[in-house]
Amino acid sequence: MTADELKSLYLGFFQKQGHTLISGSSLIPQNDPTVLFTTAGMHPLVPYLLGERHPAGQRLCNVQKCIRTGDIDAVGDAGHLTFFEMLGNWSLGDYFKEAAIAWSFEFLTSKAYLGFDPANLYVTVFEGNDQVAPDRESFETWKKLGIPEARIFFLPRADNWWGPAGQTGPCGPDTEMFVDTLKSACGPSCRPGCGCGKFFEIWNDVFMQYNKQADGAYVPLSQLNVDTGMGVERTIAMLQGKRSVYETELFAPIIAALAAGSGKAFTESENVTRAFRVIADHLRSAVFILGDEQGVTPSNLGQGYVLRRLIRRAVRHAKKIGLPGGFSKAVAESIVATYAKAYPELERRRELIVRELATEEEKFEKTLTQGLEELDKVLAQIKTHNQTVLAGRVAFRLYDTFGFPVEFTEEICREQGLSVDKAGFDKAFAKHQEVSKQGADKMFKGGLADNSEATTRLHTATHLLHKSLQIVLGEHVKQKGSNITAERLRFDFSHSAKVTPEELNRVEALVNEQIQKALPITMEVMTLEEAKALSATALFAAKYGEQVKVFSIGDFSKEVCGGPHVKNTSELGRFKIQKEEASSAGVRRIRAVLG
Ligand code: ALA
Repeated sequence: MTADELKSLYLGFFQKQGHTLISGSSLIPQNDPTVLFTTAGMHPLVPYLLGERHPAGQRLCNVQKCIRTGDIDAVGDAGHLTFFEMLGNWSLGDYFKEAAIAWSFEFLTSKAYLGFDPANLYVTVFEGNDQVAPDRESFETWKKLGIPEARIFFLPRADNWWGPAGQTGPCGPDTEMFVDTLKSACGPSCRPGCGCGKFFEIWNDVFMQYNKQADGAYVPLSQLNVDTGMGVERTIAMLQGKRSVYETELFAPIIAALAAGSGKAFTESENVTRAFRVIADHLRSAVFILGDEQGVTPSNLGQGYVLRRLIRRAVRHAKKIGLPGGFSKAVAESIVATYAKAYPELERRRELIVRELATEEEKFEKTLTQGLEELDKVLAQIKTHNQTVLAGRVAFRLYDTFGFPVEFTEEICREQGLSVDKAGFDKAFAKHQEVSKQGADKMFKGGLADNSEATTRLHTATHLLHKSLQIVLGEHVKQKGSNITAERLRFDFSHSAKVTPEELNRVEALVNEQIQKALPITMEVMTLEEAKALSATALFAAKYGEQVKVFSIGDFSKEVCGGPHVKNTSELGRFKIQKEEASSAGVRRIRAVLG
């Protein structure tokens, strides 16, 4: 079964069970400062898990492109990917554990669907803690379906709890499904989730019934939700009897391009296999980040920095296997070709993708040379002082600033009869990881889980700002990103020149004028085509006929959006622009507050 077949089988199965197919969202979260990337299908749906009405109903299904870079150093094994597609079915206050598990079981084992042998299925459920009881209901449901107790594992929070994407928000216990790869066990305590790879996780049913508050308390949600996630790449690898996701048809063209470029075979040695996997994974993520509707380019900040790290890591591994400069082009084109049908934005942005990859590749080559010069200087000093060890923090600086892998530094040192303080490097590295993890997990308060009055007011102000910019600067102004905390809004838009102080004054006055007029905000549900016919601003690419919400602010603005919004502009107070600056090429950024 191919990935395309799996996707249509899955979506067909859940549509048959009354689910409406909705579009996936951008990889770059909108209005949400708590995460850099969309990490799961639930992320864009947070407002609806909290009780906001979804225009397509209470049962939904979709495919969502996801980026997760938390495990970037584990990439290179059989299953870790920084980019993947997630299949999801959703209950927004409709069915709960029993129905969700029964459908998962049917889809996995029925001959009409995936046809996995039930004897090879293992599941895990939440063992409970001092705040939440053990998940007996999921346990009993699996047993009733015929999974013997010996193949159902009660595991702690680290394994069987789905936490909120940001600090606060919807969460709950989950039950995870694993396929036995029939490899030998890693020891007497081998079990799903032990990490040895014998048991391969392919699906997760999350039962979202709590809202985690800023003070750490778990408050029951007003509705019981189901959020499931099936990994496309992992599932087809198991269906095809492959040992890793990289052996599926999704990766075949990339692996072929790498083999042609390097003159090496994928399975030549462990090191070559690992390098191929890292390059393939990282460039796939880079292509999807650059090619996103709200795409970003490499930089030293936020999403752009993650993108830069991915590309540089790929280049580093490319050097190791002798790929010549400019190798990224052939790889990127093979990725676009594989995915253009499902993700037409990649085709539209093809030129930009190839150009940005080439530029970053070239830039890094220079850094690599600078790093070597720096290392030479340090090594000369060490020798002058009759020392034999390069300090761990220096090795880390070379890694962090110049992208030098520690093995690379070690090799050069060895050639000169020196060694590297590897323990010191590991310590500096762990400290850095801690910091970047915190950075990724807890960026800002606010976000989609925050429907406080302050963020809601700023959300409405964002619509007024968008329209005012179009009136003052022209119709070419399009939203390129929006990021709202309780304190301020940040809005990125397409415009090639700096916005002059006079223009900013006019924009600010126009927004305040609408606030003074006390305009009502109204919402209507309609299809995207109807919304476009009414000239509503729509950012996202929805499926034909898909139901959307359109928010109107008097006659001033009309925008397709998930909400929530205030009832009347008089609730906003005074609008003030604090700053206008460049965000990236052709994109300006405004920061504003409500007083
Ligand atoms: N949100 C759940 C996951 O990503 C389904 O695993």
